[in-house]
Amino acid sequence: MQKASLLGMTLLAAAVCGGAPDGPSGTASDPQFTKDNELIRPRDYRAWIYVTSGLGMAYGSDARESADPPFDNVFVQPAAYRAFLESGRWPDRTIFVLEVRSSKQHGSINKAGHFQGDLMAVEAAVKDETRFAEKWAYFGFGGGNSLKDQAKAFPSSACHSCHNKNGAVDNTFVQFYPTLLPVAESKGTLNPAYRP
Ligand code: HEC
Repeated sequence: MQKASLLGMTLLAAAVCGGAPDGPSGTASDPQFTKDNELIRPRDYRAWIYVTSGLGMAYGSDARESADPPFDNVFVQPAAYRAFLESGRWPDRTIFVLEVRSSKQHGSINKAGHFQGDLMAVEAAVKDETRFAEKWAYFGFGGGNSLKDQAKAFPSSACHSCHNKNGAVDNTFVQFYPTLLPVAESKGTLNPAYRP
């Protein structure tokens, strides 16, 4: 009896831990698509690797400082992160999530500074060299209480063009990712066009 329940626990542990679902390739947090090529919103990205937070990041010529600048939190799948540490490159089927949250002030004991509030947007970037002619594609799931379960890729001009032109490593903004920039520098994988 005791032996049987021990065996049961071992099997359960293997089911939970075995084949860790941290993609890429063949595991549960690889990017998942519908048959119409829409990306299914990853549910578990908060358990991925946390890359950085930007505060009030804005890029257009009309960009200006805001009194309540939104935070953006960047996450990447653990397996893609580990591959990047090894090589300074993103493997095929890498997926990033960019989560935008409002910033708040003066809550509870907080007297100065900002903390993160409501979810404003969830976006994703996927590298898939066979699925997308431009290798990377970009998706938005909306935000707030109306998060979409799946989304089709944005047109290239909306996202890809800026990422491709300005990202420090292979379409990604590694120049703003403080623990990854030194890796790219030491592996020599910064885009030739990138200027700090
Ligand atoms: C004008 C340039 C620009 C455009 C256009 C742009 N982004 Fe980005 N994106 C950035 C920068 C800069 C970052 C760095 C992270 C930050 O803002 O904190 C970033 C980061 C990201 C990331 C995190 C992974 C990475 O590539 O570094 C995702 C996902 C993302 N953007 C999605 C999108 C989507 C979806 C669109 C189109 C709707 C878009 N972006 C359009 C500049 C841009």
